[in-house]
Amino acid sequence: MGTSPCVLIALFSACWITNVIHSLPLTTTPDCSTGLTVHLGEIDEGYTGDIEIIPSVPDGGLELNLELCPQCSEFLEFISSFTNATLRTKKPLDTEAFRETAGVVSYQINCTSSRVENGRTLIVRDLNDNAPVFEKEEYRANVSETSPVGEIVVQVKAVDADFSPAHNHITYSIQPPSQTFEASGSGQILLKERLNYTIASQYNFTAKAQDDAGNFSQTQVIINIIDQLRPEFEYNPYEASVPENQVSLPSIALPLPQSTNSVTSDVLNYTSLFWLPLYILDLLFYQVGPVLEVLPAPIQANPSEESNYTIIYSISEVSPSDYQNNFNVDQVTGVIRVVTELDFEEIKDNINISVKASLEIDSTRTANTLVMY
Ligand SMILES: *[C@@H]1O[C@H](CO)[C@@H](O)[C@H](O)[C@H]1NC(C)=O
Ligand SMILES: *[C@@H]1O[C@H](CO)[C@@H](O)[C@H](O)[C@H]1NC(C)=O
Ligand SMILES: *[C@@H]1O[C@H](CO)[C@@H](O)[C@H](O)[C@H]1NC(C)=O
Ligand SMILES: *[C@@H]1O[C@H](CO)[C@@H](O)[C@H](O)[C@H]1NC(C)=O
Ligand SMILES: *[C@@H]1O[C@H](CO)[C@@H](O)[C@H](O)[C@H]1NC(C)=O
Ligand SMILES: *[C@@H]1O[C@H](CO)[C@@H](O)[C@H](O)[C@H]1NC(C)=O
Ligand SMILES: *[C@@H]1O[C@H](CO)[C@@H](O)[C@H](O)[C@H]1NC(C)=O
Ligand SMILES: *[C@@H]1O[C@H](CO)[C@@H](O)[C@H](O)[C@H]1NC(C)=O
Ligand SMILES: *[C@@H]1O[C@H](CO)[C@@H](O)[C@H](O)[C@H]1NC(C)=O
Repeated sequence: MGTSPCVLIALFSACWITNVIHSLPLTTTPDCSTGLTVHLGEIDEGYTGDIEIIPSVPDGGLELNLELCPQCSEFLEFISSFTNATLRTKKPLDTEAFRETAGVVSYQINCTSSRVENGRTLIVRDLNDNAPVFEKEEYRANVSETSPVGEIVVQVKAVDADFSPAHNHITYSIQPPSQTFEASGSGQILLKERLNYTIASQYNFTAKAQDDAGNFSQTQVIINIIDQLRPEFEYNPYEASVPENQVSLPSIALPLPQSTNSVTSDVLNYTSLFWLPLYILDLLFYQVGPVLEVLPAPIQANPSEESNYTIIYSISEVSPSDYQNNFNVDQVTGVIRVVTELDFEEIKDNINISVKASLEIDSTRTANTLVMY
C-alpha cells in the first residue's frame, strides 16, 4: 500500500486537496516554518474515532486552535505527547452543529515554538438523521360552520433539523385522510367541504409531517365547530300582557254593526251566541285571538348574521299546564295569541309560556325563551 501522492507532497509543501474522499484518520506532518493547509476530505456525519494522526511532533510541541470553530470543542479533542499527536472525536460528528459553515469543520494545528498555523478543513456530510418535529404537541382551532370551502382553519408547522434541503423537505398530510380537511404543502389545514354543526361539532385528527426519507412525526389537531346557525332570542324572558282593549276575550275583526259610543267598537263580544259559530270557525281555521303584547320588544329570534335560514316558532310548554291550550304562536312571526278565553279570576300567579325557535332546515337547531304572562 503506497502513501497518497498528495500526502507525500504535503510533507514538503502546502497542499490543498479538494473533493477527495479520504478515509479517516489521515496521517499528517505539520510544517512549523511556513505552515501547511490540508483538506482532510469528507466524512458522513455520525463519525467517531481518530481524524488526524501526527506521528512525529516537532520540538516545542503542537497545540489545537479552535478559534475558527468554537463549537468544535464539543466534538474534537487533541491528544499530544512528545512524540506523537492525535486529533479525534469526543462525540459523533453532527452536520447540524456545523450549520453556520455548511458542514465544514475548520481548525488549526499550531506549532507552539514558531507560532506557525497549519489549517485543516473537514466536510461533515449531511445524512437524513433527523425526523421532522412539530412545534406543538396539539393544535386547536375554533371554526365557524359558515366558513367557506378553502378557508385555512389552522396552520401546523414541523421543522426537520437536517441541514441539507434534500433531507429537510417536509410533506404534510392528515391521518386518516379526511373528506372535510386537507393539508397544504406548507402545513395549512384547509376546509374541503362545508361544515355542519349538527353532523359534527368537533373534529379530532392527526397531522403528519414526513421527510423524503420517510421519517415522520405526528401531532393532534382538534377543531371545534362553532354553532353559528343556531337561532338566538333577543330577550329571555319576555313579559307579556293582553292590551286592555282586548281583555274581553276572544275577539276578531269581523263586519260590525256601527257603534258610535264604544271605544271597543272593533272588538266583538263573543259571549253573544250569535257569533259563536263564527268564533269556532275562527279558532279552527284562523286561530285568531287577542295578540299578547310582549315587552321589551316583539318576540324575535335571529339567526347569525351570515345565515338567512327561515325560523319556525312554536310553544314547547305552558306552565301551569292547565293553560296549555290557551295560547298559540304564529310559526312565522312569533306573535302569540290567546286562542281560548282565559278566566282571569282563576289565574293566581303568572303563566309561563316557553317559546321555541328552530331552523326550518334543521330542527335540532333551536333556541328557547320564556314569555311570562
Ligand atoms: C495558535 O493557537 C492558539 C490557541 O491554542 C491561538 O491563541 C493562537 O492565536 C494560534 N495562532 C498562533 C499564530 O499562535
Ligand atoms: C504516541 O505517544 C504515546 C505516549 O508517549 C505512546 O504511548 C504511543 O506508543 C505513541 N504512539 C505511536 C504510534 O508512536
Ligand atoms: C430517517 O430515515 C433514514 C433512512 O430511512 C434512517 O436511516 C434514519 O435512521 C431515520 N432517522 C430518524 C431520526 O428517524
Ligand atoms: C375556542 O373557544 C373557546 C370557548 O370560547 C375558548 O375557550 C378557546 O380559547 C378557543 N380556542 C381557540 C384556539 O381560539
Ligand atoms: C382526540 O383523539 C385522540 C385519539 O383518539 C384522543 O386521545 C384524544 O383524547 C382526543 N382529544 C379530544 C379533545 O377529543
Ligand atoms: C258582552 O256580552 C255580555 C252579555 O251579553 C255583557 O254582559 C258584557 O258586558 C259584554 N261585554 C262587552 C265588552 O261588551
Ligand atoms: C340567502 O341569501 C342568499 C344571498 O344572500 C341567497 O342566494 C339565498 O337564496 C338565501 N337563502 C334563503 C334560504 O333565503
Ligand atoms: C315562571 O318562571 C319564573 C322564572 O323562571 C318562575 O319564577 C315562576 O315560578 C314561573 N311560574 C310558573 C307558573 O311556572
Ligand atoms: C345539517 O345537517 C342536518 C342533519 O343532516 C340537516 O338537517 C341540515 O339541513 C344541515 N344543515 C345545512 C345548513 O345544510
